[in-house]
Amino acid sequence: MVKDLSGLEITTDSSAVVDAINSFVDQLLCVGNNAQVILKAVEADPTCAIANAQVAAFYLFAGGVALTQATSYLNAAKSYLKRANDREKLYVAAIEAWANRDIAQAIAHHEAIAIAFPRDLASVHLAQYHYRNSGNSQGMLRIAEKVFAANRDNPYMYGMLAFGLEECHRLKEAEDYGRIAIALKRDNRWAHHAVAHVLETQGRLEEGITLMESLSDTWEYGSSVFYGHLWWHTSLYYLDIENFAKVLEIYDTRIWGRAKKDNGREQINAIALLLRLELRGVDVGSRWQELAAYLQPRLHEHVLAFLDLQYIYALARGGKDDWAAQMLESMQTHAEKVLPYARRTWVEVGVPAARGMIAYARGDWKSAIAQLEPVLPDLYSTGGSHAQRDLFEQIYLDALIRDRQYHKALNVLEKRNAARGNIPAIQRELANTYSQLGHIDEAHQASQLALELSQRYQKVEQTV
Ligand SMILES: [Fe+2]
Repeated sequence: MVKDLSGLEITTDSSAVVDAINSFVDQLLCVGNNAQVILKAVEADPTCAIANAQVAAFYLFAGGVALTQATSYLNAAKSYLKRANDREKLYVAAIEAWANRDIAQAIAHHEAIAIAFPRDLASVHLAQYHYRNSGNSQGMLRIAEKVFAANRDNPYMYGMLAFGLEECHRLKEAEDYGRIAIALKRDNRWAHHAVAHVLETQGRLEEGITLMESLSDTWEYGSSVFYGHLWWHTSLYYLDIENFAKVLEIYDTRIWGRAKKDNGREQINAIALLLRLELRGVDVGSRWQELAAYLQPRLHEHVLAFLDLQYIYALARGGKDDWAAQMLESMQTHAEKVLPYARRTWVEVGVPAARGMIAYARGDWKSAIAQLEPVLPDLYSTGGSHAQRDLFEQIYLDALIRDRQYHKALNVLEKRNAARGNIPAIQRELANTYSQLGHIDEAHQASQLALELSQRYQKVEQTV
């Protein structure tokens, strides 16, 4: 029996296993590009249950074809459970539940680990991942708070707490903890991400660009998906200051241009940006067609409804109507047979929203509105972050405007304006909507503000 860097006991006699597990946990928490280091642990001791479970987790994160590999390592972990300690047994059970897509059960095991072994931050990381994918922001925050006192010495703890706070709209605390995390460890990419979300939500565009670009050298050592995601966040600020050339450059060189194109999460980074560019009226050329060609492996995958909504839009928009139809049918089948805790999300939210996304891609605004409007309040349950899911509200709003439903559009726009009053596109849409509704003074005011903001941001473009 030996201990890892956090003082947690590992059932092995091999120091190489401990080294590999220490490195893997570090890679997991900093979202590094060398998580495969965990393979060294099972090479050193194939009978170590938790090492096998960590390898299974590594492959589960990868998804797709890697799921088969996850199963074989999980089976190995289970076969060596007799000698394992209580934490290891719980961890193997959590990974098994994840492999079986029983996320509620996986979370229950991680919660049990958090109580008995609060130093196990790899377990907390997985719990937060599952909570986020289930739209449970409170859960994300609570588990971080639960283990915080036991991990004050760990820089990653602050970033984990920060993102939980951000998703619970406690933005000031989120930023404070995120910045502490970065001060303690500059390449704390998870903390960069948490602060990026705060700055995005608060419309602090110039600050966002400055902060993210000042840290972007450390993203080179991040996982490829997260590299793309952090640049995606950076591009959102550029999108709002309307430097579209820069956004396209980021898309071509930092996101899709560098992505592992068969990876679902990398595809999502690209889809989520192309869609936002088009919502701003930017011509994205043949990028949809190029991207959609890689999406066939996603048709029957159904990892999260939140992801499927974007894949299916990209298929419809990229000219793959057959694949889009197949995927919708497959989503419906999946919705009927998914585990009970997730059924409502898939049946009542995911599938109607997917129909709405296809309708929007085809320019059928009325149908897009009819499908999306009732499910918008529940879309949080499909997964993703607030910033990511904002896309669906933007699509709904765009459909309303195109369908000339200005009263409804005004409700959405005024809410968006109250949250972020310094975005030129919002002011321009407000001006147009006020004007259509005959509110001439308000229209003039919004139009003036749009102009002033545009001029201000043009100055930013010249300095960055
Ligand atoms: Fe994010």
